[in-house]
Amino acid sequence: MSSTTTISLNDSNAIPQLGLGVWKADGGQEVEQAVLHALSAGYRLIDTAMVYQNEDGVGRAIAQSGIDRQELFITTKLWNSDQGADKVRPALLASLERLKLDYVDLYLIHWPMPARGLYVETWKELIKLQSEGLIKTIGVSNFNIEHLEELKKHTSVLPAVNQVELHPYFQQRELREYCHANSIRVESWSPIGGSTGDLLNNDTLQELAAKYGKSPAQVVIRWHLQHGLIVIPKSTNQSRIQENIDVFDFELSSEHMVLIDSLETGKRFGPDPASMNIH
Ligand code: A2P
Repeated sequence: MSSTTTISLNDSNAIPQLGLGVWKADGGQEVEQAVLHALSAGYRLIDTAMVYQNEDGVGRAIAQSGIDRQELFITTKLWNSDQGADKVRPALLASLERLKLDYVDLYLIHWPMPARGLYVETWKELIKLQSEGLIKTIGVSNFNIEHLEELKKHTSVLPAVNQVELHPYFQQRELREYCHANSIRVESWSPIGGSTGDLLNNDTLQELAAKYGKSPAQVVIRWHLQHGLIVIPKSTNQSRIQENIDVFDFELSSEHMVLIDSLETGKRFGPDPASMNIH
């Protein structure tokens, strides 16, 4: 495993296993600098979303970096208010314009919003846009098993990726098993517990960090990688961006993996997809 390790997807594309998340990064200089730092540190996967309001800045950094487009893996997401058959295409085209790209590597439905009942028709639209080459890989975010089952019932294409809240306090075991059985890769958001979660102060993680001579964030990122998860820690700080990719010179023992597995609390930090209907 190295910083360039990729994971194969059910559509025969591949995604870098470690990337930079940019939720809450300001859309001006902040996101631009963060992406440039990440690209020079060796990151190739950048994860943004329309609702983060920083696609423009991500696009400026990509253009400045001079890195070949084929080497990059850019993810963005369809916001909730853009669900519905006729809204998806204009939303994607607007994201592409802000990113200054002619395709995205991965496009995700950001939330299922079950109360609105639009995610199946929205998914069908993503399938069409993929066949036109505007999206390489299509996926979803925050889908529970029942939402994935609906897609399975009504279409012949399952998402390649499901990006969900996932960290040692909320491990999504049942969903991970379901996704594994259905060839859907799981990508962890808030992988190090987000900005409010206090995960990194956990005693066990602190002790493990001291044992391996790494930081608690590095231990947690390594836990995701060794579980085969795709992981996108967010940082806008250059040294933490570097720290978060500096995780390929150590390996957690199976005993310590199990110890981190035991930190499950069953509690999310973020919204519950079954009832999240903000648009
Ligand atoms: P910052 O951007 O100032 O580095 P998550 O990816 O789980 O949502 O977590 C993101 C939060 O964790 C952000 O507040 C980010 O702040 C912080 N963070 C990112 N990397 C590290 C790190 N290596 N150590 C401590 N905090 C970090």
